[in-house]
Amino acid sequence: MKQVVVTIDGPAGAGKSSVAKQLARRLGYRLLDTGAIYRAVALTTQRAGTAWTDGERCAQVARDLDIRFDFVGDKNHVFLAGEDVSAAIRTPEVSQGASQVSAHPPVRSALLELQRRLGTGGGVVVEGRDTGTIVFPNAEAKFFLTAKDEERARRRVAELAASGTTVDFAVTLSEIRERDQRDASRDVAPMVPASDAVIVDSSTQTLEEVVESLATSVLQRAASL
Ligand code: DC
Repeated sequence: MKQVVVTIDGPAGAGKSSVAKQLARRLGYRLLDTGAIYRAVALTTQRAGTAWTDGERCAQVARDLDIRFDFVGDKNHVFLAGEDVSAAIRTPEVSQGASQVSAHPPVRSALLELQRRLGTGGGVVVEGRDTGTIVFPNAEAKFFLTAKDEERARRRVAELAASGTTVDFAVTLSEIRERDQRDASRDVAPMVPASDAVIVDSSTQTLEEVVESLATSVLQRAASL
């Protein structure tokens, strides 16, 4: 069967990472987490003392990015110049930074080729905001995964609690709404479903149910090619 490109876009907290990881495993595909790349740019610029509002310098960081992904057990580790930054790129602060740096057009174009290179050859599940619209417009299977914003905030609070961090629900909800608003309204590559994407609302489905329905749909599509 043909090894296709699968894209999963959608807002923060919709469950993209968990769904993409399990779907990749179920299909025997690679996983490409494009949000981690924007997060890596945000972390690197912050460490260099550069403001996230400085588009040109953020773009230079994006062009020079020495990033590598490595699956260890169940976890997708992210390395920057050999350093494991998997935890450092997931803080609420770097989340906001990633959303800010991703709004600069030169940053997006610097990362476009990198993402396409990492997805070469198919057999890959790509997750992000514009992967079905801009990065892989010819992907054979596209999904837009969403959920109600209160449900997304509830999941984010639970996820951080599981890793020992306590955050306030109301603050998390307003951060999610702020990030959605910025990601969806930027001029370049805004977060919108591709015209040929299947919209999936995960509010009332379990992770397993979502993964199973996506896997069935991908396999049907691949078999038809
Ligand atoms: O999926 P995530 O939460 O790790 O993404 C972090 C930020 O990166 C998100 O707020 C917007 C940006 N992003 C993007 O603009 N385009 C992508 N394909 C992936 C992420």
